[in-house]
Amino acid sequence: MTSPGADAGTGLPAEVRKARVGDVAGIQRLVDTYVPDRRLLRKAPVTLYEDVQEFFVAVDGERVVGCGALHVLWKDLAEVRTLAVAPDAQGAGVGSGLLARLMDHALELGVRRLFCLTFETGFFARHGFVPLDEAVVDPEVQSELLRSTDEGVAEFLDLERVKPNTLGNTRMLAVLDGSPHTSLESGAAVHR
Ligand SMILES: CC(C)(COP(=O)(O)OP(=O)(O)OC[C@H]1O[C@@H](n2cnc3c(N)ncnc32)[C@H](O)[C@@H]1OP(=O)(O)O)[C@@H](O)C(=O)NCCC(=O)NCCS
Repeated sequence: MTSPGADAGTGLPAEVRKARVGDVAGIQRLVDTYVPDRRLLRKAPVTLYEDVQEFFVAVDGERVVGCGALHVLWKDLAEVRTLAVAPDAQGAGVGSGLLARLMDHALELGVRRLFCLTFETGFFARHGFVPLDEAVVDPEVQSELLRSTDEGVAEFLDLERVKPNTLGNTRMLAVLDGSPHTSLESGAAVHR
């Protein structure tokens, strides 16, 4: 997978950048790839347009080969969600490049704790996430979060009604130490 969209300066076979509305169809295709086996939550097109400012994409020329989003949940807590790389682009560092960019975006926003709900425990563990069994937020924050209508927040809270969607997933948390994960000089991501 090499093309004019690949970022030769970083060694990544794709450029990682903030998503634009024109990327939404490509993001939708990626998400739809992983919905049937429940690795990702289904997203309606309107939700992806509404959330486009949360997304980064990895592009190889015109093609969106990877995507990932950062959704702020609360003070000092955000969720890495909808991280996906096309099957034919996996294993080349694209997912790591996207995750590194999302981690740096979290730091820019002032967030150091990152939650994810995933089957890809090895991948996230390699990036500092650890499985967690205790509550991440105290009961007062939990009751505030219950006001949210976001399905991902319901999954974060492990509500009964979404348990069928999250069966088999592992809840993981990373605490960032504040040092950058990407080299941004060239406008692209290099994962450490
Ligand atoms: C998880 C996911 C995003 C990883 O994407 P990816 O592009 O394959 O990720 P990377 O290439 O950075 O890393 C994958 C493996 O490739 C290897 N790798 C990384 N960079 C590499 C490189 N430059 N050359 C060769 N291999 C490399 C690593 O050993 C890594 O192993 P690990 O999974 O044990 O960490 C992808 O598997 C995916 O889309 N899964 C389905 C959706 C999903 O479950 N998302 C998570 C829920 S939010």
